Amino acid sequence: MTMGARLFQPVPELALQGRDGEVRLSSFRGRYLVLYFFPKAGTPGCTREAQDFTSLLPEFSRLDAQVVGVSRDGPEAQARFVDKYGLKVTMLSDPQGEVHRAFGALKEGGGAQRSTFLIDRVGVLRYRWPKVRVEGHAQEVLTMLRALYEADQQVNPLIQARRARRALANRPVPESAILALLEAAHLAPSCFNNQPWRLVVATGEALEELKEALTGGNYWARRAPAMVAVASQRDLDCKLSDGRDYFLFGCGMAVGFLMLQATQLGLIAHPIAGYDPAKAKEALGIPDDYVLITLVVLGWPGDPAVLSDKHRELESSPRDRKPLSEVAFWNRFGQGMEVE
Ligand SMILES: Cc1cc2nc3c(=O)[nH]c(=O)nc-3n(C[C@H](O)[C@H](O)[C@H](O)COP(=O)(O)O)c2cc1C
Repeated sequence: MTMGARLFQPVPELALQGRDGEVRLSSFRGRYLVLYFFPKAGTPGCTREAQDFTSLLPEFSRLDAQVVGVSRDGPEAQARFVDKYGLKVTMLSDPQGEVHRAFGALKEGGGAQRSTFLIDRVGVLRYRWPKVRVEGHAQEVLTMLRALYEADQQVNPLIQARRARRALANRPVPESAILALLEAAHLAPSCFNNQPWRLVVATGEALEELKEALTGGNYWARRAPAMVAVASQRDLDCKLSDGRDYFLFGCGMAVGFLMLQATQLGLIAHPIAGYDPAKAKEALGIPDDYVLITLVVLGWPGDPAVLSDKHRELESSPRDRKPLSEVAFWNRFGQGMEVE
């Protein structure tokens, strides 16, 4: 028994056979993909399932989804099936059962397990029906797709949830979580892929020394179980003739990625500028000719009672942003857009 493709992970890069040759799963990216495995073309259950998907196809299309039926029948047998019943869903063939196996849709005897997989626009498996009963199934898939489509139209939930919170719990952050943050940061894009970020994790004694560099206003960061110092140099990234130095930009991207990964893990990752840079560099052995751009304070959410009145209020305050029309323009700088 295979475990099948993993939920919330990119689906494996595999190919199916169409009438006109190979079709790679990655070729569906940019749209949702309903991939449904059925045992045998022309049998009553498989016909009904294909007809149900066919009749709902206009609604799937409105939600930017393609519906693809997969079986071990050859492309010719599938073509006869499509023609005989006037089916509108795409049929693709997997004669060797390789794609079935990758999705855990192969029974022990080699037959297909009727099952359906909902894959999002970036190729990530978001939902699965491992054992399908045909009755009402196409409608059920459509309902789930609609929920997913609507959720995906919103600003990413991690971006919405992230805040520069200050109330930290007295609880260590595991090394594995810190490594995930570093990996996320290191996957940021950079000019010419120069990767200008240099990240120094501070825990233990180094962290205690680093805390001596904090300004008074950042008293709350003294409770942090870890920090990540982000350092760089102008020469580590693109320097364009009109004064565009990209190292700070690259480091900002890396910190953005790190913060989102932290949010996913339930961690606070709060970048600060309030520290004595010479002292902080000394504490971590960062060379003088590097810029210490920020310290990212890490920790688990804690009790706001440890904060000053001002910070306690900020902790649960709504987002404070300028109107979008003040910072974003359409076609011409300064040209406002009517945004609520
Ligand atoms: C580069 C940078 C430096 C910051 N420095 C500090 C700081 O020294 N102390 C602090 O309490 N917050 C600091 N912040 C947090 C900001 O005040 C916070 O991100 C901003 O008010 C927006 O709030 P939000 O992140 O919750 O949306 C800093 C943020 C950034 C990006």
